[in-house]
Amino acid sequence: MRVLGIETSCDDTAVAIYDQHEGLLCHLLHSQVDLHALYGGVVPELASRDHIRQLLPLIQEVLARCHTTVDNLTGIAYTRGPGLIGSLMVGVSVAKSLAFSLGIPSVGVHHLESHMMAALLEADKPTYPFVTLLVSGGHTLLLLAKNFRDYEILGESLDDAAGEAFDKTAKLLGLGYPGGPAIAKLAENGDVSRFDFPRPLVDKKNLNFSFSGLKTHTRTLYESHSDDANVKADIAAGFQQAVIDSLMRKAENALKHTGVSQLVIAGGVSANLELRRQADQLSKKGFSVFFPAREFCTDNAAMVAFNGFMHFKAGRTDSIATNALSRWSIESME
Ligand code: KG4
Ligand code: ZN
Repeated sequence: MRVLGIETSCDDTAVAIYDQHEGLLCHLLHSQVDLHALYGGVVPELASRDHIRQLLPLIQEVLARCHTTVDNLTGIAYTRGPGLIGSLMVGVSVAKSLAFSLGIPSVGVHHLESHMMAALLEADKPTYPFVTLLVSGGHTLLLLAKNFRDYEILGESLDDAAGEAFDKTAKLLGLGYPGGPAIAKLAENGDVSRFDFPRPLVDKKNLNFSFSGLKTHTRTLYESHSDDANVKADIAAGFQQAVIDSLMRKAENALKHTGVSQLVIAGGVSANLELRRQADQLSKKGFSVFFPAREFCTDNAAMVAFNGFMHFKAGRTDSIATNALSRWSIESME
């Protein structure tokens, strides 16, 4: 099996090829960051239009770099949802048309499942069952992965996603988009103990999160210390630590609650180096913690090609009428 993977759920156009015997052959990504930076966030209409411009040339380039042609592909996987509907539709249309013209199957995969599967691309990988902490720009949830395609949501954010909180806080501090890497960089020079950020819900027994209060706290602090040269770095450090504490506490609760010993942390925020470092505390408590490679934490097509390969292996393919889904629960993927 040789699977072409296509990712267009938000503001990255990405293409990759995964081969059953040779593993990941090639992966390329065209980021739209410059296009959206001007507006301080993703403009959906501009995102769709850019996917149309970028996708076919990127597929051509990936095939060329792999020294292969479409005739050697056995299937095409694409992100079916959740995501921006216009962006998803570009990937769905190209993937299904290409598969149709080649007479090979296509399969639409779940974006969050792909993020989780990125951890299974690593040599040191978990075996089922494991708990997954999915932390992206649009979602934050704790999931029990009992088996491939058998997932139970244990808890989720009741308001902003963790990545969204990074993005909104960065915007308040005038750091631009995307906010996660900018906050992380600034936090390196900040005093983490100067400001006391709230940790909503951490003492509650449930496995839910809440991050929307952090941006209000940021705004108040920033406005009341506007002439202080270090305030941005100190806020960044305090904010980042509050998010990490919430994530770590609830992940540990989920592991104890399920009796499972392995934790996967995936999605854009899992690229955060301080989070990766502090997850070590869980290792010291006897849990095994797994991350995708850093380049496969944020949106990419390697995870889509590999996830698609797993779906094909399990005998799943699209019907000719399969469409894109802007909202799609990972618990009910059929
Ligand atoms: O998974 P992803 O690439 O896209 C979605 O599926 O949403 O996640 C993007 C999110 C953004 O909110 C971005 O600010 C955040 O991941 N992010 C980070 C870091 N790199 C990306 N957050 C914290 N630290 C980082 N180093
Ligand atoms: Zn994503």
